Amino acid sequence: MPEPKVAQKGLYVKEVAVGTYYWCACDHSNSQPSCDGAHKAAGFGGMPNIPMRVEVREAGPKPWCGCKHTKTPPYCDGTHATL
Ligand code: FES
Repeated sequence: MPEPKVAQKGLYVKEVAVGTYYWCACDHSNSQPSCDGAHKAAGFGGMPNIPMRVEVREAGPKPWCGCKHTKTPPYCDGTHATL
């Protein structure tokens, strides 16, 4: 199984509305923190939770993980500081 890249050692704070989002878990998307379908060419196609479907029930800024190694996906838990 391929390992996610670490494109950004930090979070993406992005304001979102209530709705469904697809968080990029492989870090190959050019539309971070959202999936753009690049996971298929990167070898992550068909893997569970890649991308991760996220139901946002409260609008506002969210701390999306940018390093893809968080233990609390899709949100940052500070793991990037240890990479
Ligand atoms: S491009 Fe990364 S999960 Fe889809």
